Amino acid sequence: MSEYQTHEHDVLVIGAGGAGLRAAIAASAAGVSVGLVCKSLLGKAHTVMAEGGMAAALANVDDRDNWKVHFADTMRGGQYVNNWRMAQLHAQEAPARVRELEAWGAVFDRTTDGRILQRNFGGHRYPRLAHVGDRTGLEMIRTLQDHGIHRGIEVYMENTVVRLIKDGDRVAGAFAYSRDRGRFVVFRARAVVLATGGIGKAYRITSNSWEYTGDGHTLAYDAGAELQDMEFVQFHPTGMIWPPSVQGILVTEGVRGEGGILLNNKGEQFMYQDIPEAYRNQTAKDPEEGWRYCQGDRNAFRPAELLTRDHVARCIMREVRAGRGSPHGGVYLDISWIKAKIPHAAEHIKRKLPSMYHQFKELGDIDITREPMEVGPTTHYVMGGIRVDGESQMSRVPGLFACGECAVGLHGANRLGGNSLSDLLVFGARAGEFAGKFAREHGETRIDTGQVDEAARWALAPFDREGDEGPFQIQQELQGMMQDLVGIVRTDEEMRRALENLAVLRERASRVKVTGNREYNPGWHTALDLHNLLTVSEAIALAALARKESRGGHFREDYPEKDARFGKFNHVARKGPDGRMELEEAPIPEMPAELKQIIEEMK
Ligand code: FUM
Repeated sequence: MSEYQTHEHDVLVIGAGGAGLRAAIAASAAGVSVGLVCKSLLGKAHTVMAEGGMAAALANVDDRDNWKVHFADTMRGGQYVNNWRMAQLHAQEAPARVRELEAWGAVFDRTTDGRILQRNFGGHRYPRLAHVGDRTGLEMIRTLQDHGIHRGIEVYMENTVVRLIKDGDRVAGAFAYSRDRGRFVVFRARAVVLATGGIGKAYRITSNSWEYTGDGHTLAYDAGAELQDMEFVQFHPTGMIWPPSVQGILVTEGVRGEGGILLNNKGEQFMYQDIPEAYRNQTAKDPEEGWRYCQGDRNAFRPAELLTRDHVARCIMREVRAGRGSPHGGVYLDISWIKAKIPHAAEHIKRKLPSMYHQFKELGDIDITREPMEVGPTTHYVMGGIRVDGESQMSRVPGLFACGECAVGLHGANRLGGNSLSDLLVFGARAGEFAGKFAREHGETRIDTGQVDEAARWALAPFDREGDEGPFQIQQELQGMMQDLVGIVRTDEEMRRALENLAVLRERASRVKVTGNREYNPGWHTALDLHNLLTVSEAIALAALARKESRGGHFREDYPEKDARFGKFNHVARKGPDGRMELEEAPIPEMPAELKQIIEEMK
């Protein structure tokens, strides 16, 4: 162990996106020493790619909004398998967390009377997303980073954690390697917060950055925590589809929030052809009413383009399969049509959606102020994650906390757009606060050198193997297989095939060989990532096979309806005594009468 650089903190936060930074700030405010480990450079976490905004019932644009409406919208979007306590805390605390961000220097777009401007987004009854053009995530990270650095948080950049270290049942620290020099680093801590984001890189088409390889999910699972509801993967309806090199890049829902419409190759606004029962009395009757809603008409209802993401993504798939798609296998998203409605439309679009304008101009040679975009679904978010206590965010491993996308609960079967950034703030703050408290109340941990040496041997094994297969082929096959067999539309037969394939890929991954040395070696990094990608893929496929119904992000062609039985429990995956993944049905606790009443009233 003496060979390895060792750092010691009361609280170690792994991941420096919105949730990790907010957790680190809260832990430091609790008066403990904080270390923050990030896989890339500080300020480059995936959160910077978040575009449309953060949802909070500030009621700045529509004074009918309040936490109860936000709570009911989130539960309905999640199809009632959410952790209702988290949905309640989120709706109640998001406004304060957004105002706090503003006080720390975030420069939001403003209403004409100087308050934080809020925009429309799918599934939110009122304009609710506080935003900074279409670069909200960037502003959020900039603000949190500035604030965090001034608190004296110690940052370890370009370090990837490959193992959590335990002291008995309790978490005691983490074992990592530096991505540049390949050196091993040991972090000792009294409490650890995982804030590593999602799993999008398990799929071929994704809006997620290279960092999203399911690290936190797998670290927690290997350390004895549980993964819940992993079958719920969100496919955002609008990613770029052309040219192929940019396939999957996010096209913000903000485009539709600003009046953008979806069209098939017949020019039909197809979203109006199928409006789900639960939204029928709150959706515009026709495109004209939808436009009036986007213009702030309080008597109009949301356009059908702003139905929940799971539904919009499936409608797009339906159009494509029926031969009504665009030339490159998607549909059209048109914001340029608003020039028929407002003066100076091109300037308006560039001001409201500056990144979208540049993204399409630079990457696709499309001027979105004059012509429609081609878009299609892209893997965007995993609702499933590490099972935590709703108040404190602690997993079942004492001292191990999780927040943000790698944790589960708030979003149920389907996340509403904009609820992610507010989730990061609300539960990042809670995780940091409770981790700080845990660290203060519990003694020092002991680092077991046996565990450290074993982790080092495991990490170096790919260099010593005789095999002739490298990691990239396996990674690519895994991504293609998950895309094809465990994607937007699923069947029993395909998921069984996926599980069989996963076993074969895991076996191949165990023999993978890397060449070269430890410095700047992406082959080595990918070889280690494979363990995470395979673990989360297995959890997704296993839970998706067991859920014999369709709900939220999980759609079964062989069970296309929702089944009330499946609305009563969450799926929980854990490592069994023989090392295999086991799946259990964990009953959802009864919702208190006052929350039930809110949901009833909002219906
Ligand atoms: O469409 C978007 O801007 C994405 C936002 C989100 O996923 O919350």
